[in-house]
Amino acid sequence: MSQGVRGTRDFYPEDMRLRNWLFDNFTNASLLHGFEEYDAPVLEYEELYTRKQGEEITQQLYSFQDKGNRKVALRPEMTPSLARMVMARAGGLPMPIKWFSIPQCWRYERTQRGRGREHYQWNVDIWGTTEISADAELISVLVTFFEGIGLTAKDIVIRVSSRKVLEEVLGSLGLEGDIFAQTCIIVDKMDKLSSDVIEDQLSDLGHDSKVVTTIQAVLGIKDMNSLQKALKDESVAVSELNLLFDAIDSYGISEWVEFDASIVRGLAYYTGAVFEAHDRTGEFRAICGGGRYDKLLSTLGGKDLPATGFGFGDMVIMELLAEKGLIPELVSDIDDIVIPLNSDLRNAAVMVAASLRNSGRTVDLVLEDKKMKWAFKHAERIGAARLVLLAPDEWSRKMVKIKDLDTGEESEISLKDI
Ligand code: HAM
Repeated sequence: MSQGVRGTRDFYPEDMRLRNWLFDNFTNASLLHGFEEYDAPVLEYEELYTRKQGEEITQQLYSFQDKGNRKVALRPEMTPSLARMVMARAGGLPMPIKWFSIPQCWRYERTQRGRGREHYQWNVDIWGTTEISADAELISVLVTFFEGIGLTAKDIVIRVSSRKVLEEVLGSLGLEGDIFAQTCIIVDKMDKLSSDVIEDQLSDLGHDSKVVTTIQAVLGIKDMNSLQKALKDESVAVSELNLLFDAIDSYGISEWVEFDASIVRGLAYYTGAVFEAHDRTGEFRAICGGGRYDKLLSTLGGKDLPATGFGFGDMVIMELLAEKGLIPELVSDIDDIVIPLNSDLRNAAVMVAASLRNSGRTVDLVLEDKKMKWAFKHAERIGAARLVLLAPDEWSRKMVKIKDLDTGEESEISLKDI
């Protein structure tokens, strides 16, 4: 029984150091932009996730009946919980809300590189404004994070589009409503499935071959000028995207961002701007994804409130950093190792450790008889700054020996000065 459930991870201390480092960077980028942290339970009622459009995510639910016969599920994503929280305080929250969280999410999916059955997902969302400036602010949060961990616009591209592109195209063909969200879910899989399979699925949905060709042509567009030509003059998609790119320009982060009509996202609830970050080589799956979802609350029985946000998993990004040699070498946060050189000095070592801890230093007290050689190895392994030695001679004079592990310098210090 030394193995955990398939697709789940254990975090040993060295893994935990890295995870904390990553989460600190998530948190810093959020706080720098004025977001506040929130949390919600990992267990929710299953119906929070029952949506009818055939998304992958609803087929991957970890759901079960609890002992009171309630149908519950482990959250596959945070957005429905956030929507539930906002709805519960509808009217009582000062808008706009700018909140972030780093929840663990569960999806029963095929495990592969960068994809597990649980992952931690940094969520950053803004509720209560329809302004496209909110979407631009989210992209700035992303860029701040990437820069913070040592990535540049040469490594990463944030691809942006709007669901309104496809909505306008389908609308001009008289196709509206549910078929639109379902079409988005299918075309989102374009880079994972063959074009034959995509075409079959689109025609199963009722699209004739002319519509399929039109969809494919529009989704192939990669610059705003061509988009402008493909859509009507008064296209809302085009004018909103132009505003978004202007704002991105003002942030000074244009080199990170590209228009790409093939970005539609695989979740049903997106309504406007959508974006994903990818590594430029295209080796990995999307690093993160998000967009505007102005109509989610009404699907949950509430009154709609505009919202936009993204989810950013902890797995693909670590794979990418590993490949680029950008994983930081982190050591534990221990200042001093206190070691008694014989068992008679153990209680003295306790006193010394206690006074160092009282003064705010982090101390690892050696709890059993160990040789000096071991202490040096141990200090090196955990990256401690100093060794504090209790030896019979020195202690008889109420002194301890201190070895600075960086410089190798040794000194003596009296107990009262510690
Ligand atoms: P999503 O695209 O399903 O969106 O997931 C967002 C990100 O979470 C992905 O780009 C990926 O980094 C990570 N992720 C998802 N599933 C897995 C997995 N099985 N293993 C590893 N990483 C994974 C959402 O979940 C939306 N709720 C995001 C959002 C927030 N939209 C608006 N606000």
